[in-house]
Amino acid sequence: MSEIKKRKKTTVQTFAEKKSRGEKITVLTAYDHITARLLDQAGIDSLLVGDSAANVIHGFRSTLPMTMDLMIAHTAAVVRGNARALVIADMPFMSFQPSEETATLNAGRFLAEAGAEAVKLEGGLEMVSTIKRLIDIGIPVMGHIGLTPQSIHRFGGPRVQGRVERSRTYLMESAQALEEAGCFSIVLELVEKKIAAEITTALKTTATIGIGAGPECDGQVLVINDILGLREPEFRPKFLREYADLSTIITEAVRKYVDDVKSGDFPGEDESYNTL
Ligand code: KIV
Repeated sequence: MSEIKKRKKTTVQTFAEKKSRGEKITVLTAYDHITARLLDQAGIDSLLVGDSAANVIHGFRSTLPMTMDLMIAHTAAVVRGNARALVIADMPFMSFQPSEETATLNAGRFLAEAGAEAVKLEGGLEMVSTIKRLIDIGIPVMGHIGLTPQSIHRFGGPRVQGRVERSRTYLMESAQALEEAGCFSIVLELVEKKIAAEITTALKTTATIGIGAGPECDGQVLVINDILGLREPEFRPKFLREYADLSTIITEAVRKYVDDVKSGDFPGEDESYNTL
């Protein structure tokens, strides 16, 4: 039996089990059902329906314009393509910040309407009470600290976090409070690698999932479009490893199609229907 056939459904408990065994957790973003199916079949542990869809799918410059309705549609599509990975839906800007009630209703929509199994929301110490409320009513939560893109205007740009003592203290205290609140995992985004390693060691059961946070995290997440080379040419962060150049493959395929249609080579006899 192949590795994939043997693979069990990933649950939030799988994250803690893998952390305790020192087994790395693999996460990628996904926004549509075909991609979800391919990533799931390739053996990914978890699919994060990130609000990065604002950038890579919808062409916005930040994640701030993302809406609940768009995120629900992306999440439902991913759920339809997935079999074994854990599907986590990202709570967009203003879907959880205004009040605990807003957060509860919107997190509930992701599970009830879209079929997500967990939600992710950005923020550390200041979000603990909201996160606790969600977990108390049965909604698993992935935290997200470090460079949190919904606060990009406060950070003044994509700056690495945890390079000064005050920032390191905030990150460690936030991570410990999120574990105490019951988060099954925490994304560490653009975090200096030494403090990311210290947080990973300090947390007993909550798995750290890094993006630009060094190799010591319990797992890694990247944006699917970025690793496949479907990105803006100027977007080339240090932490990104590109595994394929689909931009070139797509451009070449489309040029060939255009040439074939223009020359009359497509459609051919085999691609046309005859009378019965
Ligand atoms: O929206 C997203 O894709 C994310 C990941 C990069 C962690 O938040």
